[in-house]
Amino acid sequence: MTTYLVTGGAGFIGSNFVLYMLERYKDITIINLDKLTYAGNLENLRKVEKDPRYVFVKGDICDEKLTASLLEEWDPDLIVNFAGESHVDRSIKDPDAFLNTNVKGVVNLLQRAKDAWLDPKSGKWKEGKRFLQVGTDEVYGYLGKDGYFTETTPLSPHSPYSASKASGDMFAKAFFDTYHMPVCITRCSNNYGAFQYPEKLIPLMINNARKHKKLPVYGDGMQIRDWLYVEDHCKAIDMVLKKGRPGEVYNIGGHNERTNVFIVNTIIKELREKLNDDLINEDLIIHVEDRPGHDRRYGIDPTKIRNELGWYPETSFEEGIIKTIDWYLDNEEWMKNVVDGEYMKYYEDMYAGREELK
Ligand SMILES: NC(=O)c1ccc[n+]([C@@H]2O[C@H](COP(=O)([O-])OP(=O)(O)OC[C@H]3O[C@@H](n4cnc5c(N)ncnc54)[C@H](O)[C@@H]3O)[C@@H](O)[C@H]2O)c1
Repeated sequence: MTTYLVTGGAGFIGSNFVLYMLERYKDITIINLDKLTYAGNLENLRKVEKDPRYVFVKGDICDEKLTASLLEEWDPDLIVNFAGESHVDRSIKDPDAFLNTNVKGVVNLLQRAKDAWLDPKSGKWKEGKRFLQVGTDEVYGYLGKDGYFTETTPLSPHSPYSASKASGDMFAKAFFDTYHMPVCITRCSNNYGAFQYPEKLIPLMINNARKHKKLPVYGDGMQIRDWLYVEDHCKAIDMVLKKGRPGEVYNIGGHNERTNVFIVNTIIKELREKLNDDLINEDLIIHVEDRPGHDRRYGIDPTKIRNELGWYPETSFEEGIIKTIDWYLDNEEWMKNVVDGEYMKYYEDMYAGREELK
């Protein structure tokens, strides 16, 4: 029996990971510690809420007492830290929340795991323990037309979000270098799939387009992101937990570089055909002022994780985007519940004064 402490398991990637793991492995227990910020949604986990192998704990990764007591009570073998503030636009408005969760929260988790796993007398770590810090390719900054991010690309974050993630990664690495703590760091490209909060590009565009609302595209829309279907990310994390070498960084990405405009046009085309609705068309696109410090291109070189661990993405973009669109169409109630909550306040705040969007 392997016990996982998953943090941020009610968010987009975390909830996909919890579902992915419980579906594949019988002999595991997952403790999900989540603060349930605006991005945390227990509806994502309805399928497993009564599963005896799954336990939900509402709480903050910055909470020293709570995290120490969870480690004592459950003695997890593996800790996977998904908990994070994850939206660049929000980080530009409120960097403090990012400092707290993405830096101080990571340090607290590392400290508590070290307290629980390191025997101060012998200097030995308990067997079979592993801490995985879930990171992002955004810490590398941006690329020109050519080249890819490798694990040795220097960190050069541009937004408060990526600066906080880079800092969390560096603390995780420092715990390996200083204390030999069994830590791995993953850095993944943009994910898409079910359960993503509709402030992010793909669910935002699907949700707006089907309601014939304007589709706000930053600047010229030619920013390039390397898109990965979320289940392929879950598979990579599972493999790094099992076979990754402590102290190592693993980049995760599937050579799926697309411009934002391409993504929006694909969604328009697919939705128009699926819903047989000609009002879903390019006229809905509206170019809004670009995000400050907006990186132009990200592209991951996944050679290391492929060669060392045998990971490869199973879902092509063409297949993944259709699955994703279908999921949002089939789960209108999920979207409605999310959008009816705090989301509208955020949307109005974010795009306030942009009359063209109304
Ligand atoms: N979404 C992507 O494309 C992407 C790509 C690469 C890496 N990442 C990283 O993966 C992680 C998960 O991303 P996501 O898109 O699922 O994010 P998300 O915003 O959808 O979910 C974050 C989750 O963390 C929880 N949380 C936030 N602060 C917390 C705290 N202090 N204590 C406990 N729980 C807290 C939230 O309630 C939410 O459930 C993040 O660290 C993000 O930086 C995301």
